[in-house]
Amino acid sequence: MLFHARGVALLLGASIAIVTTAFLSLVKGVTNTALLVAFFLSFSSAYILIYATLEFLVFREVNKIYAALNKLKKRDLSFVDKNHHRAINPIKRINQEIFDYARDKQREINDLKKMEEFRREFVANISHELKTPIFAAQGFVHTLLDGAIENKKVRYKFLKKAGKSLDGLDMLVQDLLVLSQMETGSIKMHYEHFDMRNVIHDVFEQFENDAEKKEIDLILQVDKQDHTFVYADQHRIYQVMVNLISNAIKYTKKDKEVPHPKKGKVVVFFESDEENVTIFVKDQGRGIPPEDIDRIFERFYRVEKSRSKNKGGTGLGLAIVKHIIEAHHSKVKVSSKVGEGSLFSFKLPRGNAEIARKKMRLEEPEEEI
Ligand SMILES: Nc1ncnc2c1ncn2[C@@H]1O[C@H](COP(=O)(O)OP(=O)(O)OP(=O)(O)O)[C@@H](O)[C@H]1O
Ligand SMILES: [Mg+2]
Repeated sequence: MLFHARGVALLLGASIAIVTTAFLSLVKGVTNTALLVAFFLSFSSAYILIYATLEFLVFREVNKIYAALNKLKKRDLSFVDKNHHRAINPIKRINQEIFDYARDKQREINDLKKMEEFRREFVANISHELKTPIFAAQGFVHTLLDGAIENKKVRYKFLKKAGKSLDGLDMLVQDLLVLSQMETGSIKMHYEHFDMRNVIHDVFEQFENDAEKKEIDLILQVDKQDHTFVYADQHRIYQVMVNLISNAIKYTKKDKEVPHPKKGKVVVFFESDEENVTIFVKDQGRGIPPEDIDRIFERFYRVEKSRSKNKGGTGLGLAIVKHIIEAHHSKVKVSSKVGEGSLFSFKLPRGNAEIARKKMRLEEPEEEI
């Protein structure tokens, strides 16, 4: 009660009234009635003033601070007012400072928790991905050491399999290296003017056999008015196209449950405006479920969770794509429909055709006379 606004106001009001009346009583000729009136007047005015000041300027705000701190203990951030105005009342300002501080700290804690979870998941994923090829290679080598080396046929087969596992391991480590270098920013982009059509032709050539085996047509659709020259890091964009086109082929499968046209198609096409060229990669594959679409760019994320049916993918391809495109200050977009296919796209600044052609001419080997 004593520390309530009313209690404090009552005590201070009474003291002020007593002091005032005591001083007044020292003045000659003041009647008792005047003293009584002075007492009540000074008491009531002091009480009202002190009560109002304490209640509205101090106690209410202090109580708010307590309530906020209590909520904070329970990790409830609902008290945080996002667009409050700077108050004049200093206690109110302290209150706001506490709110801001609490909000920032809670945000930091949430971020740290997310990062911790991410780190844990990452370590688990990476150990698993490394373990698989190492175990496989180890198994083949030990079998050979245990005597299989004597058998000429088995010797070659096992060595070939061990070699393949180690190649996979090498690829994984390379991918991880690229990702970490991109994250630390130690990879510098080498911008140049070049024709995207040449890059696409090279990538198509690389996947010709894979596509043929799966009866997939690789199509580059270019209209006459399309501008295909871009200004970007050619080598990195080549990597992006390799990942997107290999995915388009890999995830187009003749599946009994999914109605597919007899022959699958992977189409690359362009859209250009005054400043940019957008590159599209479209497939008629199995598509990506909506609940996975936001996560496919995460490291190690795969729609098909079972690693046993691993077809060689580690789930790093799109993470690399995202990093490369972001390093070009752009974004990868994706739209997909399960059973119908996916469309990936990204924008690059338009390149200068003259410079690109000049460079190509310089690179061409001179004809022998
Ligand atoms: N064109 C696509 N159609 C359907 N699903 C896709 C397509 N592209 C990617 N995905 C899904 O997104 C996941 C992540 O793709 P990402 O390229 O990052 O990994 P990956 O292909 O499994 O392995 P990696 O590319 O490292 O060999 C894939 O596992 C697949 O489930
Ligand atoms: Mg991939």
